[in-house]
Amino acid sequence: MSLQNCYNFDDFRKIAKKKLPSPIFHYIDGGADDEITLKRNTKSFDDCDLVPNILASVGKPDLSTTIFGKKIDIPLFLSPCAMQRLYHHDGDKASAKAADKFGTFYSMSTMANNTIEEISNISGGPKLFQLYVHKDQSITDDLIDRCRRSGFDGMCLTVDTLVAGNRERDHRTGFTTPPKINFAKFNEFCSSS
Ligand SMILES: Cc1cc2nc3c(=O)[nH]c(=O)nc-3n(C[C@H](O)[C@H](O)[C@H](O)COP(=O)(O)O)c2cc1C
Repeated sequence: MSLQNCYNFDDFRKIAKKKLPSPIFHYIDGGADDEITLKRNTKSFDDCDLVPNILASVGKPDLSTTIFGKKIDIPLFLSPCAMQRLYHHDGDKASAKAADKFGTFYSMSTMANNTIEEISNISGGPKLFQLYVHKDQSITDDLIDRCRRSGFDGMCLTVDTLVAGNRERDHRTGFTTPPKINFAKFNEFCSSS
């Protein structure tokens, strides 16, 4: 299957499973413990009906909305995802560019593989920065200052990661954050399942 033949989320998932080393695929595809919340989050979309406005002219559809004081063109935005260069060589730069193109927010993780300045140079679109508060206050202050200087529009503060989630798939595949790849783990990273 090629990208041109992808018509829905599951098609992209199948390609990712085939192409990515198994620990990386399971890191982005998996959730914590029995993955009940992960399944429930996805399933909740099934409860949403899109009600068509029939026999009425829609003119030029306007999907724009305002969030964090900024008007965005579509009612969706990119939430922060760590270490995006694990699964695409352009990583966060590609996500930031795509969000800019569609007129919506890109959110940068504290654990991104690009710098705040690199992202700001590549995207003039609306941007959020997701902050993990560091034990060393000067690191947190520096990140906030750099976001301000680089024109980020807002911060998302993560408050639920005092301990990392118990991600059972990562225990099985040997994935760690940050990833540690030694010779023994190399074969595991090259196999897919
Ligand atoms: C691979 C991956 C990495 C993520 N990294 C971060 C992160 O660095 N910081 C953060 O606040 N949330 C992170 N998240 C959480 C997402 O931003 C989002 O809140 C979560 O996936 C729920 O949205 P969803 O149901 O659309 O997946 C990550 C999620 C995934 C799947």
